[in-house]
Amino acid sequence: MASDLLAQLDFSGRNVLVTGGGKGIGAAIALRFVELGAQVTIADREASAESAASDLGASFHLCDVADAAQLEAAVVAATRGAQLDVLVNNAGIFPTTGPMLSASDEFVHQMLEVNVRAQFSASREAAARMTNGGAIVNMASIAALGGGANISAYSASKAAVIAMTRAHALELGPLGIRVNAIAPGIIDTPGVQDQLEPLKASGVDIDKRIAANAVGIAGQPDHIARIAVFLASDLAAFVNGHVIVADGGTGL
Ligand SMILES: NC(=O)c1ccc[n+]([C@@H]2O[C@H](COP(=O)([O-])OP(=O)(O)OC[C@H]3O[C@@H](n4cnc5c(N)ncnc54)[C@H](O)[C@@H]3O)[C@@H](O)[C@H]2O)c1
Repeated sequence: MASDLLAQLDFSGRNVLVTGGGKGIGAAIALRFVELGAQVTIADREASAESAASDLGASFHLCDVADAAQLEAAVVAATRGAQLDVLVNNAGIFPTTGPMLSASDEFVHQMLEVNVRAQFSASREAAARMTNGGAIVNMASIAALGGGANISAYSASKAAVIAMTRAHALELGPLGIRVNAIAPGIIDTPGVQDQLEPLKASGVDIDKRIAANAVGIAGQPDHIARIAVFLASDLAAFVNGHVIVADGGTGL
């Protein structure tokens, strides 16, 4: 491959922060950045993520992204006494809302707090420390585009992520910071397996459900990781304020 293209994927010496990088999509993203030479910090609320981070060759910072003090400490740690270059706003929750007619305000608040407000705060704290410019990649979802019965609070939170991505891109672009989003379809992660447990118990073919897209393959965390490194890299130097849908083709 042309060496100038490969050079644009070289993250040597760059500081990368991946929230929710303890497992699933975040862990795959952290691994790809490590492979490309980055100094990666994983911020995750689960203490068990520390050994996963170590296995990947990343640093670990115990952090609930919804906690302002913990979040700021994680961002500062990720700068390694210098600057931050890349933030991947991946941490998110996706409990099923159930019928919207019976969803409580508390439930909706919690969903927006973690999936939207915390992403917003993380971007603010990170951008303030991207003194050499940088890139932010926000994790949205195809639920933002297609809605989805019984996941309305989640859909609303991810639609907000897309709008926030577009707005932040306009504000931060002049500072040399690009902001983009990824909207994955169903990806086979521990979180999704947990969600599908009730369906599994009722005899639904989960593998078939996960691969229900035009190309007929099960979405894997690394499908999303490859897009994250592209968006953060100089290969995407002219891409700002956009969302890449990665769902194998579902017609959305
Ligand atoms: N898996 C999918 O099908 C899918 C599809 C579309 C979008 N997404 C989005 O991708 C992201 C990752 O999803 P996943 O399937 O890998 O999830 P997962 O549940 O398998 O892993 C999520 C990780 O984030 C961490 N985390 C959760 N809340 C946190 C918090 N408040 N602070 C710090 N860490 C926190 C968890 O501890 C865990 O390590 C989420 O934002 C999710 O909404 C996933």
